Amino acid sequence: MRTYAKVLAVSAAAALALSACGRGGDTPASGSGGGSTGGAAAGGFAANSLIGIALPQKTSENWVLAESLFNDGLSGAGFQKDVQFANGGVGEQQNQIQAMITKGAKVIVVGAIDSKQLGTQLKAAKDAGITVIAYDRQLQSTDAVNYYIAYNNEKVGELQGQALLDGMKAKKANGPYNVELFAGSPDDPNAQVFFNGAMKILQPKISDGTLKVVSGQTSFNQVVTQGWKAENAQKRMDTLISANYQSGTKLDGVLSPNDTLARAILESCKQAGIGTPIVTGQDSEVESVKSIVAGGDYAQYSTINKDTTNLVKATIEMIQALQKGETPKTNATDDNGSKSVPTEYLEPVIVTKANAAEAYKGTSLEQYTK
Ligand code: GAL
Repeated sequence: MRTYAKVLAVSAAAALALSACGRGGDTPASGSGGGSTGGAAAGGFAANSLIGIALPQKTSENWVLAESLFNDGLSGAGFQKDVQFANGGVGEQQNQIQAMITKGAKVIVVGAIDSKQLGTQLKAAKDAGITVIAYDRQLQSTDAVNYYIAYNNEKVGELQGQALLDGMKAKKANGPYNVELFAGSPDDPNAQVFFNGAMKILQPKISDGTLKVVSGQTSFNQVVTQGWKAENAQKRMDTLISANYQSGTKLDGVLSPNDTLARAILESCKQAGIGTPIVTGQDSEVESVKSIVAGGDYAQYSTINKDTTNLVKATIEMIQALQKGETPKTNATDDNGSKSVPTEYLEPVIVTKANAAEAYKGTSLEQYTK
């Protein structure tokens, strides 16, 4: 599904041509020749136009940070803005997008709660000539999305899978290792992509016996965490421990898709007193970075650096290109089930105690690495 590596190898222009011929003639919406997907007119739009930003729920720090970065960044670039969170759920997000359309937004950036339930609103945006950018999470099964911008989510999963293996090997040179698997919320398309990326690395090791998933729960549906909620992960970990790890069976590692869930999983292990497994994460949340750097009992092993500042900055650059009537820079395409979406992928970085100082140098997290 993802064509990242392939497309990276060719120029941006060729990438766009590839997306156009490979998927039934979809072309990017803006710039000369754009059109079949709707979006900005070739001439762009007024420099002080309204930009709508529809964010999901505050499930992790990166989303909270995105709000202030979009507010400051869009104002700094001279745009009017409407930045909204939908803590109330999908219905609230649908209403917010509809309101952005009514208010005359020229671009709507969407970090979806449930990317399959926005079809009506996205079609209305497309019909109104608004450019839609999927932010961090792809908008699935709709042709009313013009661009996608995110850290490469499959790569995130691969890095998590590899970190889990490396961390366990550093503690005990040879397997078999007992592990458990967790995934994110099933309505967030990223959850499946992270899991698939991780399983690309882990499945061969499960098959050859290096890894043993003691609970036997290895399918995505068995390991999801509704709403990315810490309490759901903690509850599942409690159940896994009482069913599988109370009579001396050692738990060596847990695949966790993000930091919030990693800390919940470790809390469960701590309360049960079963020792510290290697636990992965994502998002570079302050508490997790501190834990990784401190090490010791019930510390998290790894996280992923997906600097939100860079992602928001790149999104605003996309909006500025559209404003000028230019085609935004992209380096990949992503098939959302309905079309091949021109995509800008940023590179995620794995962080452990060993490289934390280097990874966060010059960022607000640097202070926690000393
Ligand atoms: C994902 C996002 C992750 C994490 C998660 C839970 O879509 O890519 O970085 O934030 O949501 O909030």
